Amino acid sequence: MQVATEQAEVRRVLEEVRCSGHSVGFVATMGAFHEGHISLICRSVAENDFTVVSNFVNPLQFAPDEDFEKYPRNLPEDNRHCEIQGADLVFAPTGEEMFRRPPLVSVHVGELAVILEGAHRDGHLIGVATIVTKLFSIVGQCRAYFGEKDWQQLTLVRRLVADLSLPVEVVGCPIVREPDGLALSSRNRYLSGHDRARAGILSRALKHGIEMIKAGESNPAAVVLEMEEMIEPVADKLGYATVVVADSLQMPDSLPASEPLRLLTAAHFGSARLIDNMGYDPAK
Ligand code: PAF
Repeated sequence: MQVATEQAEVRRVLEEVRCSGHSVGFVATMGAFHEGHISLICRSVAENDFTVVSNFVNPLQFAPDEDFEKYPRNLPEDNRHCEIQGADLVFAPTGEEMFRRPPLVSVHVGELAVILEGAHRDGHLIGVATIVTKLFSIVGQCRAYFGEKDWQQLTLVRRLVADLSLPVEVVGCPIVREPDGLALSSRNRYLSGHDRARAGILSRALKHGIEMIKAGESNPAAVVLEMEEMIEPVADKLGYATVVVADSLQMPDSLPASEPLRLLTAAHFGSARLIDNMGYDPAK
């Protein structure tokens, strides 16, 4: 496995791979791997001839009061996982290599970037859209694997690929969960024992919301209210709990909607802000 720190090297290697008729799979990460990342790498390795993994903690997606400096970093350990899973190339640039000067260009994805996570984390999704577009420009034609855990991010990446006609096929991959339902996240390591025990409420509330829809609840606001009532007394602070149409992220007027739905939530436990979501497809 090769480790590249320069954009030019990545472009050169991947051009050669494509010229020899091989497919490229791409997994964008900020490192601090857990089983969720590993499942993305594994899937890319299984479905492509060559897998490139980027490992870059993107400063553009952290608000000034967030954990950019503190964000867990462990490149040697991450590289070891990439190698074990069979990745071919790791792109681990420095901040200086990615941004020789503060960028003037950013990628805005309209409403999709300012609701939900965007409303709670100022500029976060614009920072994500900007770095993902830059990484796609470096990697070129590929299949790109993103976790469903960041559902809004996945939706936004699909939309930017479609709107900008980027030569990328976006593949959404299922959330990996702990036995009690907690979705894996690099931020789970910030949870104390007490916070960790409470955090399982997120997946229980989402499951309850889905059960309500399955049982015929027609009012999305009623589903939202019951999820809120489950999470609020347990978490330190509720960010949101909502039911939306999966690809527009807009709340349907009534249930059951004809399109797939997504139930999403965010809440604080101690110093960690966790997000989670689950899907409901009326056709299944
Ligand atoms: O999901 C993440 O880890 C990040 O948001 C991403 C997609 C690597 C962009 O920095």
